[in-house]
Amino acid sequence: MRSIVEQDLGTPRRSDSVAVTLSIDGREVTVPAGTSVMRAAAEAGISIPKLCATEQLEPFGSCRLCLVEIQGARGLPASCTTPVAPGMQVCTQNERLAQVRRGVMELYISDHPLDCLTCPANGHCELQDMAGAVGLREVRYGYEGANHLDAPKDESNPYFTFDASKCIVCSRCVRACDEQQGTLALTIQGRGFDSKVAPSQNVSFMDSECVSCGACVQACPTATLSEKSLIQHGQAEHSLVTTCAYCGVGCSFRAEMRGEQLVRMVPNKDGQANHGHSCVKGRFALGYATHPDRILKPMIRSSISEPWREVSWEQAIAHAAAEFKRIQAKYGKHSVGGITSSRCTNEETYLVQKLVRAGFGNNNVDTCARVCHSPTGYGLKQTLGESAGTQNFDSVMQADVIFVIGANPTDGHPVFASQMKRRLRQGARLIVADPRRIDLVRTPHIQAAHHLKLRPGTNVALINSLAHVIVTEALIDESFVAARCELPSFEKWRSFVSDPRHSPEAMQAVTGVPAAEVRAAARLYATGGNAAIYYGLGVTEHSQGSTMVMGIANLAMATGNLGREGVGVNPLRGQNNVQGSCDMGSFPHEFPGYRHVSDPAVRALFEGAWGVPLEGEPGLRIPNMFEAALDGEFKGLYIEGEDIAQSDPNTQHVTAALEAMECVVVQDLFLNESAKFAHVFLPGSSFLEKDGTFTNAERRISRVRQVMRPKSGYADWQITQLLSNALGFPMNYSHPSQIMEEIASLTPTFTGVSFERIDQLGSIQWPCNDTAPAGTPTMHIDSFVRGKGRFLVTEYVPTQEKVNSRFPLILTTGRILSQYNVGAQTRRTENSRWHEEDRLEIHPHDAEQRGIAEGDWAGIQSRAGQTVLRARITERVQPGVVYTTFHFPESGANVITTDNSDWATNCPEYKVTAVQVTRVSQPSEWQRRFREFSDTQESLLKNADVFLAQK
Ligand code: SF4
Ligand code: SF4
Ligand code: SF4
Ligand code: FES
Repeated sequence: MRSIVEQDLGTPRRSDSVAVTLSIDGREVTVPAGTSVMRAAAEAGISIPKLCATEQLEPFGSCRLCLVEIQGARGLPASCTTPVAPGMQVCTQNERLAQVRRGVMELYISDHPLDCLTCPANGHCELQDMAGAVGLREVRYGYEGANHLDAPKDESNPYFTFDASKCIVCSRCVRACDEQQGTLALTIQGRGFDSKVAPSQNVSFMDSECVSCGACVQACPTATLSEKSLIQHGQAEHSLVTTCAYCGVGCSFRAEMRGEQLVRMVPNKDGQANHGHSCVKGRFALGYATHPDRILKPMIRSSISEPWREVSWEQAIAHAAAEFKRIQAKYGKHSVGGITSSRCTNEETYLVQKLVRAGFGNNNVDTCARVCHSPTGYGLKQTLGESAGTQNFDSVMQADVIFVIGANPTDGHPVFASQMKRRLRQGARLIVADPRRIDLVRTPHIQAAHHLKLRPGTNVALINSLAHVIVTEALIDESFVAARCELPSFEKWRSFVSDPRHSPEAMQAVTGVPAAEVRAAARLYATGGNAAIYYGLGVTEHSQGSTMVMGIANLAMATGNLGREGVGVNPLRGQNNVQGSCDMGSFPHEFPGYRHVSDPAVRALFEGAWGVPLEGEPGLRIPNMFEAALDGEFKGLYIEGEDIAQSDPNTQHVTAALEAMECVVVQDLFLNESAKFAHVFLPGSSFLEKDGTFTNAERRISRVRQVMRPKSGYADWQITQLLSNALGFPMNYSHPSQIMEEIASLTPTFTGVSFERIDQLGSIQWPCNDTAPAGTPTMHIDSFVRGKGRFLVTEYVPTQEKVNSRFPLILTTGRILSQYNVGAQTRRTENSRWHEEDRLEIHPHDAEQRGIAEGDWAGIQSRAGQTVLRARITERVQPGVVYTTFHFPESGANVITTDNSDWATNCPEYKVTAVQVTRVSQPSEWQRRFREFSDTQESLLKNADVFLAQK
């Protein structure tokens, strides 16, 4: 448990290797060169009054409260903007300074409402604190005359208020938006008395470019910018550090609580992934956790056309276990399986795969990473030897060239995007390869050097032509390759990519990217200094997803951009625990730690620990489960935290498979799309209600801490344990730390990981073992995990999903900042104010040809199905390409995506679907049926028979 008010040392930490010693109030202090006098004093325990300074922001020197005397210096310098010097003699407190500070405070207070007792900041207002600190007893100027006390409030943002009457115009909010967030939405307008904070061109927060990250709210020393939840609930009384349950950045937060009531989430400045920053989801979108839609009682039914019956936990678990046993007895051991989720903790995921392998006795376990980053696991393992990204996020601050491929960091990974933008504003060069003009291409003070606007589905052709330039223009890092890589594989790859058929000129017709642009980008990547690749689902969700990941690894090895800070190959994981769910053995062919089930030594290890024989044949992947279900061979499924009916491709195929099963058990917070096909519903717990760990995109394992009791009575790991025990495979953990102990004992890369160690270090990046007891921020430093790096030939094979006269456009998909994945959480928050429906982006030329105007209903027809979305006409997409997000089930984005998938991993080809778009006047037939089915299911839920639960 942490105190609510954290110490703020006033200005950022400096890391200069030169140390400077000075004297402050007679105390000798030694700090790194570049440190401010204010921070040096604070580190020595001497607190200098301040208002415009905070350690999250560069010093500004506007409030003049932090003045000090420095021997030999003229006047009274501001301690926040004055760097230390050797031998400096500083005095921070005497009567002269006290008088000046009181004078400054008098001016502030004379134009400030005196409503401290009813102010939401009461108790943590820096202005109030400073009035006390300088000993202010009277305000000689009175409170009459011109003032700002009637300045209007801006309540437009759903999560925070802006009460201008309380503003002291310290600029902390403006600087937070500039420096931390990089959106530059705020300015100080006017001069002198008229100066005021204004979003954008003096519009409301909601109408401005503001992305509601909360950095300005956090920075504000007064109640001017205040969380509405704080105003509603009052000051918190205790806090606990936990990890955001949304994206793969894995931001650390202090959950501030009053008893069981969450007051607010405050980004943790000690958080090693986020350094005190946040985005609108982790900071504010928590309403789902207490939403009335949450189901808190277990339910069962014998068919999906029957109303649910609320039952006791014992009955629900016994029923589910009996059903799985009945199905296995009737249809065989392999007729059941389980699906876990990247939204679960490591410990939960580990238990689900253990239940399947040991309790069901087969390897039919898979995870939603199947449909996102499975090609990353495969491609990086094959080339570098480890299925994970190579760097920590901070590494980007050493990059000179940042190459973003098929990722949209400002929407998908916003806090890391802010860090990346900071580096770009410092001068790093940017290359973006994306069919669509993502925000990063042109954003305040940032302009991509190259935007390679390729046709969807031609990634491998592009990477081969980039490689062709690097090889044929002698831009290879020969010494790196000679020392670190398998030379025969390199020679084979070199000769492959040298072939003129891979030249940018030859590939231009395929990729649509001008050859000169490709050549320039390749030269910049190879010769621009430290070059780091960041990629996302625009790389993996293709029929050649694994090939492209290998192509990226080839490029990084060939240019020596691996094994140190500032470089690397960095998959940006979509969901919070994609890395962890893969690490924990939730793929059907691998035990935890990516060890194949066919390896007898590994199997013997797990058999010894779990006390049961284990199968040596890989089990069914998710798409194979669907096929087997439709063939009548797969009849029972346990799904924890995943919504396959919305997130997997070809929805009609998925729902038909679910309908063909005899027992679908869904463990979740809500009656999600999959649960509408379920026979048993086990109410799950939100991340606020359980202990465990998440592993972010940097391989960073962070603690999830229980801040409130599970609303349904059990945390998810306990539910899996109950089910396993009922199946006859005993589990007896009393805390998730014991599950992590077991993981560590069985997984070489996790040997040194424990809850205790994470608590000591804050977080740990695996591998963490005897060789790396504090974890591994940068991988492959002296050699690759597999020894020598392996180049692999990456032949471009065009997708089978071809455009033709019937389907002339390519649909590609992506995500948006305010919504998350299937939207089950964020749709139940105020975030929908920013994105209340999925829309189809279409180029003005394509729209005009079809007579489609902004906001018209556009019918989208693919070989798999049809849906209807409203059109947004934009030049963000190129002619021939249309784009949509997939956060709303009724959008049916996956009704139109096809069954095509990555050749190696079956990751669906979400990013390329040939479609026709026409103007229509009503929803599609599928949408009509979806609405009917959903209404029926919701009424079956409302009419749940509670008699058993009331007994
Ligand atoms: S919430 Fe974030 S984006 Fe919006 S104004 Fe504040 S700092 Fe800027
Ligand atoms: S809103 Fe807060 S942070 Fe911004 S200038 Fe006013 S007092 Fe300072
Ligand atoms: S960037 Fe990701 S992890 Fe961080 S607060 Fe936002 S959603 Fe959460
Ligand atoms: S804190 Fe130094 S001038 Fe404001």
